[in-house]
Amino acid sequence: MSKFIASPANSLSGNLKVPGDKSISHRSIMLGSLSHGITKVSGFLEGEDALSTLKAFQAMGVKIERDGDNVTIHGVGINGLKKPQGPLDLGNSGTSIRLMSGILAAQAFDCELVGDESLSKRPMNRVINPLRDMGAIIDSNDGKPPLKITGGQTLKGIDYDLPVASAQVKSCILLAGLYADGDTCVTEPAPTRDHTERMLKGLGYKVRVNDNQMCLTGGGDLKATEIQVPSDISSSAFFMVAAAIAPKADITLLGVNINPTRTGVIDILQLMGANLTLSNEREIGGELLADIRIQSSKLTGIHIPEELVPLAIDEFPAVFIAASCATGETILTGAKELRVKESDRIQVMADGLDILGIDNEVLEDGIKIQGGVFKEPTGMIESHHDHRISMSFAVASLRCDYPIEINGVDNVMTSFPNFVELANSAGMSIIEI
Ligand code: S3P
Repeated sequence: MSKFIASPANSLSGNLKVPGDKSISHRSIMLGSLSHGITKVSGFLEGEDALSTLKAFQAMGVKIERDGDNVTIHGVGINGLKKPQGPLDLGNSGTSIRLMSGILAAQAFDCELVGDESLSKRPMNRVINPLRDMGAIIDSNDGKPPLKITGGQTLKGIDYDLPVASAQVKSCILLAGLYADGDTCVTEPAPTRDHTERMLKGLGYKVRVNDNQMCLTGGGDLKATEIQVPSDISSSAFFMVAAAIAPKADITLLGVNINPTRTGVIDILQLMGANLTLSNEREIGGELLADIRIQSSKLTGIHIPEELVPLAIDEFPAVFIAASCATGETILTGAKELRVKESDRIQVMADGLDILGIDNEVLEDGIKIQGGVFKEPTGMIESHHDHRISMSFAVASLRCDYPIEINGVDNVMTSFPNFVELANSAGMSIIEI
């Protein structure tokens, strides 16, 4: 059990490079493993979540070498995975379990996917149901992990309308579709991150995208290539909010992924009046990157447009801190999915904001936050072991006159292992004990 003590700080400066994108790092291991040939990955996220995926593929017989954030994957081809010795432990990682269940449902061997306490409470029927429609045999603990997958099934392609806007579910079905007879199509109710589609194309697999429908035909091959992982916009978001709320700030985040399915946080902060500009936009390996400069800003509360919700789904804990420092009310609706992330991010954030004296009202699918002043904390903030809750409340220290204590910050390691070091180098004052 570890905690942060984030002491008051009011200025932030520097050129910062945050670690590699988590979603792209996961996919680089999965698709690199299933490719023919050697895939070299640079900028890989050395966080526990991406490492859970890496270890799982090693356990299935893939030779993967790592030297810091450089990873070399000796691909075994689409049918080259071997039965692991025991259950695959995916730790805290929803992306690992949901995407891998699509791949594993189609293997010749049985396997079991397990996770930590938080992952073991997260809903899996959203992947189990469509995979069963494809012919998979999967047992679960009442729709939650562990997942026991029976191998040796022949999958058939399906045409699936996603009931929730979820890139994990879309990706799971498309990955199972690589092995299925015929065409697999997924239609999404709103755009979600498209890293799977982009990477499949980069590895030579044809994905047909028509508006909100993605289709592929099973039975093809993936060819190894080089993958450069850009900086993660979700990790960058903590620094965007930090600079926007800090009394004195001017920072530039270098080489951040600005894939249009991920930039909701930029749109939301700009709608709130953030002093945020993009420069040096470029494309690397099918993904868009930019440098993002953020300076101290006068923020105003807004009603967040619902169409931005899936495009900023991981950034709301940080956005709630921005809303707490804005003039007026910020309203979020249409964001029920936040309740089934690593924690119930609506309730857990509301509880933390209560401790800091910020008026808020919890809605079934969102929250109303009345901008104000952070008061002396009435107790310790409980992160419920959710990495993004921990980092969000650490950022609040830029506008609080008292130290903020945050409990259960161990899982910051899942997505942003050098968060404290980078935050302190920019001017924050966080210690971990
Ligand atoms: C992810 C998709 C999102 C996101 C998660 C990563 C991915 O989950 O919250 O952190 O890499 O596909 P959902 O698909 O559940 O929205």
